[in-house]
Amino acid sequence: MFLVKRAAARAPAARPAVVLDLCCGAGGIGAALASLLPGAELHAADSDAAAVGYAHRNIAPFGGRAHVGDLYTALPADLRGRVDLLVVNAPYVPSGEIDLLPSEARLYEPRASLDGGFDGVDVQRRVARVAPDWLAPGGHLLIETSARQAAATTGAVTESGLAATVESCEDWDCTVVAGTAPDGARITTSA
Ligand SMILES: C[S@@+](CC[C@H](N)C(=O)[O-])C[C@H]1O[C@@H](n2cnc3c(N)ncnc32)[C@H](O)[C@@H]1O
Repeated sequence: MFLVKRAAARAPAARPAVVLDLCCGAGGIGAALASLLPGAELHAADSDAAAVGYAHRNIAPFGGRAHVGDLYTALPADLRGRVDLLVVNAPYVPSGEIDLLPSEARLYEPRASLDGGFDGVDVQRRVARVAPDWLAPGGHLLIETSARQAAATTGAVTESGLAATVESCEDWDCTVVAGTAPDGARITTSA
């Protein structure tokens, strides 16, 4: 999966990564990423308790911990400022387009797993706004989006103060917006 590959490429070289799969559903993204990053500290969170139950089972083999709650409120406080790779496949279907989805999504997926608000970017905006508080210095936020919504997702990431880039894979029809936190190790002085 493109998001997982792009995240793995950004893992710290010198130590195991701290990974957070936010809006994790059944935890597939976190599990796939942890399988590529031996020793990673893995957390996954979602507001849907049933999904988190599955995520717990899927990430346990990697030593992962799954949390239930609305975005960052689900997380243990000691994760704040330590996340190297924050991977997010949040809902990004515009509310007015949900009725156009194939029946398997429309009829069997909970609305909360699809509905991204008016332009599809509402949940992504909430994720991006608070991401800098949870990222480690030099850490990365990676959000799956669509080619059509990439500019809006990039705007959300940039407004949060992260340096954004858009990465696409035509073969897989995938688009990821990555935002990088300033590296706190870089010391600036007036001298
Ligand atoms: C499109 S699904 C993606 C699930 C998973 N990341 C994947 O790629 O298979 C979006 C997920 O976001 C979760 N979600 C939506 N709003 C949320 C919120 N405010 N806080 C936490 N999770 C949320 C839904 O419950 C759903 O599991």
